[in-house]
Amino acid sequence: MTTSKLTQAIELDKPLFVLKLGGSMLKEVSDSFIQSVIELRKNHYVLFVHGGGPEINGMLEKLKIPSVFVNGQRKTTEPVLEIVEMVLGGKMNQLLSGKLKAHGIQTVGLSGHDIITASYLDHDSLGFVGKVEKVDDCLLRTLLKDGYVPVIAPLGKTKDGQTVNINADVCAAAVAEALKAERLLFVTDVPGILKNGELLEEATPSLIDDLIQEGTIYGGMIPKVTSAISALSDQLKEAMIVNGKGTIFHSGQFVGTKIKQQAFVSGSNQ
Ligand SMILES: Nc1ncnc2c1ncn2[C@@H]1O[C@H](COP(=O)(O)OP(=O)(O)OP(=O)(O)O)[C@@H](O)[C@H]1O
Ligand SMILES: [Mg+2]
Repeated sequence: MTTSKLTQAIELDKPLFVLKLGGSMLKEVSDSFIQSVIELRKNHYVLFVHGGGPEINGMLEKLKIPSVFVNGQRKTTEPVLEIVEMVLGGKMNQLLSGKLKAHGIQTVGLSGHDIITASYLDHDSLGFVGKVEKVDDCLLRTLLKDGYVPVIAPLGKTKDGQTVNINADVCAAAVAEALKAERLLFVTDVPGILKNGELLEEATPSLIDDLIQEGTIYGGMIPKVTSAISALSDQLKEAMIVNGKGTIFHSGQFVGTKIKQQAFVSGSNQ
């Protein structure tokens, strides 16, 4: 039996940035954002995971299919899943992939269905919502090394071949972990974590816990911050929440909320 190229370990020779683009951002990806991606690609690999919340909501409303959220996760009944698959795997994936391609970025649109094995997160309360069990990192490494930018729709399939809906933040964190990414950026429609209207430049897991408890962090921000925390590792020392509507880079730094294990202590070298 011959060994497939895909079964051999493929090392990435540049750091990888995983960018999660929120659904609200997909239609208004700015030229300056795309220029940042082009700049980033000079010294890094880049991979996208996208959401599609507003578009899914619009389609569900049009078809009068009821939909509810539990802790920021969409309860996915069978009719909801059908729409999620069409919107994420079809329309939104092609929209983002096409926009990047139009700027000369060589993208490959992928459904997570082909690369993510999942189990049910909580079938009773959330229906067809997936928990990532395994990411086919070999395929993604191969594409990255060959110069492609993978654009992934956050879907998965169970061992039995059932398609499941995966929250895009959770999906991005799992992909970042599987590929040992150096950075994970959640590009969304707010400047970062806000408290009383003010941007928090940094947040640690314990602060985030408190902010969730007191209700400052709610809804779609919950899976974002919890995924960011779960992705932190020796390799990925900080995750960031940035605003896709504003400037992402400023003076060589990302602008938004940094999520890291330890708070920066002024005057220390850490
Ligand atoms: N403390 C907070 N600071 C800022 N935004 C918050 C906070 N708590 C909750 N939010 C909400 O989180 C939202 C961002 O999450 P949301 O799920 O709506 O977008 P997304 O994840 O970027 O898109 P998608 O879900 O389509 O991938 C904000 O628009 C805001 O309403
Ligand atoms: Mg969201």
